[in-house]
Amino acid sequence: MHVTVVGCGYVGLVTGACLADTGNFVMGMDIDPQRVEMMRAGRSPIYEPGLTEIMQENIKTGRLKFTTDMAEAVRQAEVIFLCVGTPPRDDGSADLSIMRQVAAEVARVLAHEAIVVIKSTVPVGTGEQIEAIFQRGLRHQVAVVSNPEFLKEGSAVDDFLRPDRVVIGADDAAAAEAVRQLYLPYVRNQKPILIMSRRASEMTKYASNACLAARISFINEIANMCDQLGIDVDEVRHGMGTDSRIGFQFLYPGCGYGGSCFPKDVQALAAFGRAAGYAPQLLDAVHQVNERQKGVLFEKINRRFGGELREKHIAIWGVAFKPKTDDIREAPAVALIDRLLEAGAKLRVHDPQALANVARRYGQQFVYGDDAYALVSGADALVVVTEWNEFRNPDFRRLHEVMRQPIIFDGRNLYDTSVLRRYGFEHYPIGRPGIGNREQGTEKI
Ligand SMILES: NC(=O)c1ccc[n+]([C@@H]2O[C@H](COP(=O)([O-])OP(=O)(O)OC[C@H]3O[C@@H](n4cnc5c(N)ncnc54)[C@H](O)[C@@H]3O)[C@@H](O)[C@H]2O)c1
Repeated sequence: MHVTVVGCGYVGLVTGACLADTGNFVMGMDIDPQRVEMMRAGRSPIYEPGLTEIMQENIKTGRLKFTTDMAEAVRQAEVIFLCVGTPPRDDGSADLSIMRQVAAEVARVLAHEAIVVIKSTVPVGTGEQIEAIFQRGLRHQVAVVSNPEFLKEGSAVDDFLRPDRVVIGADDAAAAEAVRQLYLPYVRNQKPILIMSRRASEMTKYASNACLAARISFINEIANMCDQLGIDVDEVRHGMGTDSRIGFQFLYPGCGYGGSCFPKDVQALAAFGRAAGYAPQLLDAVHQVNERQKGVLFEKINRRFGGELREKHIAIWGVAFKPKTDDIREAPAVALIDRLLEAGAKLRVHDPQALANVARRYGQQFVYGDDAYALVSGADALVVVTEWNEFRNPDFRRLHEVMRQPIIFDGRNLYDTSVLRRYGFEHYPIGRPGIGNREQGTEKI
């Protein structure tokens, strides 16, 4: 099939490359000429495992091309995927202006029948709005289908190639069937393709993300109470997760969820619920608990240093909102960095993939680099914020040697307190008894 993908970010580029890989002819359209230039050269503008390889193979066969020109992009398109961003407005509701703009542009240049698929995460009712744009100047039949994306950054290619399910929301059976055909190669393992109403499909995406976010905020709330009550949340987590009705996924306490999806989607769902006349109490609480959780590490650090962080050298490992991505949007580390800078701390920051984005955001406000150990040298504390694999088993002896003070704030509960005790560290995890400092009065943490 001839497919066009409008917006070549995390979702659009992965979608385009993976669809080309099963034999479709894909045109990727993006407004950013630099991005298009890079992609044409077979380089991915984002870090995503496996993506460069799949791009390069399909560019070579001529099945994957890129352009900034919408008319060229849709000239042969049978199916057009809209994958542009839907960022939050100040009130938390989704900003659909880019979505509307690209729909209008497609409508203006499209000279044949086509199926438009909304892959971006959009509030219930967006399908109707986009359909109205196509009907306004209608010369040709255009069906608008909802097909939300469930991929996770860090394993996006794998998630696209092996989805748990595909959701297609369409009120037009023929359009739904055409989109289903595109997905059949990825569900040969009997995973379902669920066809439902367009509005139910739009809701399914938000409900799924909000459910996962709620589990994270729930366990974070339990962890904070464990901190107060002197209980190890990890024991509680095991006690809960072994219940087959509960399970372990998304039940890991930490310093809050981030990224470009959970924070904005929970707020957008609450916003369109409110607009529909419903008071979404649970969703508001999920968001508020997460906002508070992003401050937990700072509070622990501040308490440990008696409220005096000026000139303290703090090393940070991990800025990406989660491992295996370079994405720092809404990352808990960003909230922490902002507060530490405000308090006058001197920062040294390391992340295996996200430093270019860190540099774009912070410029020269602190030191950052690729050598995790060099950055920790002379530090008063190390704060681990993202659970990259390479941070799981560091050389504790070396860390202890090079740090000015052997203090670790463990934002993802990566380390075993008994191991850190052996090496002589103070250890401040989340919701677990750690090793505090008696003189500082932080032995109960
Ligand atoms: N990132 C994820 O993990 C993920 C997962 C599922 C769903 N989503 C949803 O998918 C949508 C896209 O997210 P993303 O993370 O891929 O965004 P992104 O910011 O990575 O990519 C958006 C792309 O659209 C391009 N763009 C902007 N304006 C344009 C225009 N007028 N014409 C053409 N291209 C334009 C940008 O240059 C960029 O390349 C959002 O609604 C998001 O909520 C994201």
